[in-house]
Amino acid sequence: MKESNEWAKKASMVIAVFSKNELDCVIGTSREYYLFDTGMATAYMILRGTELGLVMPPIAGYSHSKIKNILGIPEDMTVITLIIVGKKGEDMRLLSEKQVKTEENRPVRKELEVFVHHNSYKE
Ligand SMILES: Cc1cc2nc3c(=O)[nH]c(=O)nc-3n(C[C@H](O)[C@H](O)[C@H](O)COP(=O)(O)O)c2cc1C
Repeated sequence: MKESNEWAKKASMVIAVFSKNELDCVIGTSREYYLFDTGMATAYMILRGTELGLVMPPIAGYSHSKIKNILGIPEDMTVITLIIVGKKGEDMRLLSEKQVKTEENRPVRKELEVFVHHNSYKE
């Protein structure tokens, strides 16, 4: 784990999510769906965990090569995310100042207009 993810070491379980291009739908030369499909499956798993009262943030702050070595994941696979599974804690000492602030105040969400385009793409 990267330093900013010290909090994750307290988790009850860490799920490594990994896949590779060849395991999923590929259309033509540019439409590769494995990241999308794995992301969808991961989202449903997180929703179910949340329904059960768990917190399951996905993280990207880890050493890709170390995770693969430790878990024996084949070279041609990509570890897309780690999902940190546990109960929400009260102890904020493992969090950075920025992380504490984010815990206290939900980050501002972008307005739909910023990323939804009607009929044609607009900058
Ligand atoms: C691709 C991706 C990578 C992330 N990596 C990290 C990470 O390394 N460390 C971390 O604390 N949060 C990371 N997050 C954020 C958490 O998963 C989680 O979304 C956030 O803590 C709480 O989000 P919210 O309060 O905005 O819902 C990542 C999120 C995404 C989507």
